[in-house]
Amino acid sequence: MDRVGIVGCGLMGSGIAEVTARAGSHVVVIEQDADALARGIERIERSLSRAVNSGKMTDDESASIHANLAFSLDFADLADRELVVEAVAENELIKLDVFRKIDAAVEDPAALLATNTSSIPIIKLAMATKRPEQVIGMHFFNPVPVLKLVELISSLLTSQETNQRAREFATDALKKKVITSQDRAGFVVNALLIPYLLSAIRMLESGFASAEDIDTGMVLGCAHPMGPLALSDLIGLDTTLAVAESLYEEFKEPHLAPPPLLSRMTQAGLMGRKSGQGFFSYRT
Ligand SMILES: NC(=O)c1ccc[n+]([C@@H]2O[C@H](COP(=O)([O-])OP(=O)(O)OC[C@H]3O[C@@H](n4cnc5c(N)ncnc54)[C@H](O)[C@@H]3O)[C@@H](O)[C@H]2O)c1
Repeated sequence: MDRVGIVGCGLMGSGIAEVTARAGSHVVVIEQDADALARGIERIERSLSRAVNSGKMTDDESASIHANLAFSLDFADLADRELVVEAVAENELIKLDVFRKIDAAVEDPAALLATNTSSIPIIKLAMATKRPEQVIGMHFFNPVPVLKLVELISSLLTSQETNQRAREFATDALKKKVITSQDRAGFVVNALLIPYLLSAIRMLESGFASAEDIDTGMVLGCAHPMGPLALSDLIGLDTTLAVAESLYEEFKEPHLAPPPLLSRMTQAGLMGRKSGQGFFSYRT
């Protein structure tokens, strides 16, 4: 894939743009407004500076990544793309609208259209386009430059060729490890992870233990790299809530229903790391 488009330059889109540019593709990144675009560019700059300062990347590598990145607010700039990866907020209506716009903008009839959704059925997004056989789920993990996994999700209508091309891009170009899942809410990882995060939030909400003790319990007791509340903050509480809502809608199991504390914190703008405050504070 020489020409790739990424729509949405938040936590995930910025990471997917960085690893794709690093793999040598030219990347056009689309955002919805100038402020969001400026934040996305700053996020990529910070990530590249961190990599250079820690000796994981040379100045030349960082410069060639910069040279492969272009930014825009206009979907028309996706016209010549061979692959577009959608990474906008986890909201079905927004994603359906974005998929209609991507489908209208991309001229190459063979182009692949991928979504990084965590939980929205791939088939719903595919049916918003005129080429559902070329729509596939490519679910990356946060932080994208660090975590090796991509879940690949074909819908009932995704072609074998689309699956093969997406797999080759993830493994050969991006050097990721691919696992496959059926088109079910949460796929493999979030179907297992989200109920665990919700249990930790319920435990905090009921006064069972403090946030610090819940996280310390899982870090020191189970050797997890971080506790469930810090992980929820890292994912973003709005995204955690949206994924829980999709899981609950699909399976209707009580343990998948989002606890009120998660909803209230999201309504209050306490989104975790990206807003500076979640279960823990990230303000400097
Ligand atoms: N956060 C995680 O850990 C994680 C992990 C894997 C997958 N995901 C999925 O990745 C997607 C993005 O999540 P995120 O954490 O990056 O969210 P985010 O809130 O950090 O970023 C979303 C970005 O999309 C942009 N956007 C919204 N509407 C748009 C539009 N119409 N056109 C262009 N840009 C638009 C926003 O301005 C924002 O910058 C979601 O589907 C989420 O479920 C998230």
